[in-house]
Amino acid sequence: MTNRDAAWAALNKAASAARERRIQGLFAAEPDRLARLGLNAAGLEIDLSKQPWSLADVEVMLGLARACDVEDARARLFAGEVVNASEGRPALHMALRAPDGADFRADGQPVSREVESTRSAMRDFCEAVRSGAKAGATGKPFRALVHIGIGGSDLGPRLIWEALKPLAPTIELRFVANVDPAELAQALTGLDPDETMVVTVSKTFTTQETLTNAEAARAWLRASLGEAGDAHLVAVSAAPDKAQAFGVPADQVFGFWDWVGGRYSIWSAVGLSCAVGLGYDVFARLLSGGHAMDEHFRTAPLADNAPVRLALAHVFNRNGLGRPIRAVVPYAQRLRLFAAFLQQLEMESNGKRVTASGAPAPHPTAASVFGDAGTNGQHAFFQLLHQGTDVIPVDILAVREGSEGDPAAQTKLLANAIAQAEALMVGRPAAETPDAQRAFPGDRPSSFILMERLDPETFGALIALYEHKVFVEGVLWGINSFDQWGVELGKALAAQVLAELEGGPAGAHDPSTAALIARLKS
Ligand code: F6P
Repeated sequence: MTNRDAAWAALNKAASAARERRIQGLFAAEPDRLARLGLNAAGLEIDLSKQPWSLADVEVMLGLARACDVEDARARLFAGEVVNASEGRPALHMALRAPDGADFRADGQPVSREVESTRSAMRDFCEAVRSGAKAGATGKPFRALVHIGIGGSDLGPRLIWEALKPLAPTIELRFVANVDPAELAQALTGLDPDETMVVTVSKTFTTQETLTNAEAARAWLRASLGEAGDAHLVAVSAAPDKAQAFGVPADQVFGFWDWVGGRYSIWSAVGLSCAVGLGYDVFARLLSGGHAMDEHFRTAPLADNAPVRLALAHVFNRNGLGRPIRAVVPYAQRLRLFAAFLQQLEMESNGKRVTASGAPAPHPTAASVFGDAGTNGQHAFFQLLHQGTDVIPVDILAVREGSEGDPAAQTKLLANAIAQAEALMVGRPAAETPDAQRAFPGDRPSSFILMERLDPETFGALIALYEHKVFVEGVLWGINSFDQWGVELGKALAAQVLAELEGGPAGAHDPSTAALIARLKS
């Protein structure tokens, strides 16, 4: 038996014992539980004491991390080795948020100077747009920015803007991802082309949805400004030549690199729209928060390492206790898009059924993630969390000091966050209730992540925490967290179906698909 197999067997044994006890009982049995299962990292207070593991189980999980060579994998990640083997690339998003003077290397090639010069171009651009020095074709300053992109070119920027935008921004941002023309139509409604910048973000600059929307937005600009409207086009891409061929002025194309994965790209020029809307200094603070988490992840021993601990808690539930779903509930309206962001980060990264070398994955991999802001979720899916037949672990996020509004309402919000975690774990025995409908089984795990305030640094650290958590899970499962071949088949078939819907010859399809195509052509 290999060390790995032995460590997985130890996890299964620990989990069998965990099934026979209740989380709450562990607090009496382990007087230092709270202290030992709390962590502080880069401004985040993480409480993992309401997880179903005992302190001995945590040691078993750390044994798994060691047996799976997490430290070695972490060193290879930071060294810029080709950790994404199927695409032949490193994954070096940490280089994007390192301070000036760093020396990251992607597969041996120095990258930090290029990162710095892109950041400096971004800063200049932001300042020029925000000051009005860079104005539209008719001389008016830009008042709105339409950000077009999808997946990693959308979810992160959308989340950043929601999380950090001022109540009355000088430049309003609108986001368009879907090829459904309704989204672009809504985004453009009420905007004046004279004052609107269109930022197209696509790593490949080949994505159907993004190019369709970019073409429509360019047509919208040209309809009122003529060819001069192209001066309002900006692009962010790892294929800058394609962006220029599309008509974006060369000095308005911002590059990034193939070693930046789409879902890890918010730290690159993919965040340009947010940097324009928030001011570059705010964006720089976001980078510094992400960097603080990198330093924690890179240097903290496994036992005190927040991304490692969070990954181990999730894997204990996912693999030890067979829980294939996790909920994420930020008690912060400004983080309401966090679950949507995590869906791509976790499920596109770790939704894999073969190992990095192509063998069948020996253990179940990524859990499905869903969620919404608290308290809203309490009035939607929390019924199932409390009394459904499946146990769904929850990540609860809370911010102590609200960013705006009535402090009394903020206190109510926090009370709900704490109470829900308590209710999930403690439950209410049937003996205390008049009927079975009112009983709560309890023993439902949660992690609690508390932030003092939602400032750019803490928010950056939060995103980086989950990025590294996903990486550690991928190492434990032996999969490549940085490719996404699973999105390709649907893209290819959509191109084929589109050709048929547009009048091309009928292809070979299963009867159900053929009937749908025929129905839509009729
Ligand atoms: O959804 C698949 C995907 O390839 C993601 O990985 C990526 O973030 C998204 O499409 C957008 O790709 P691009 O930035 O190249 O337009």
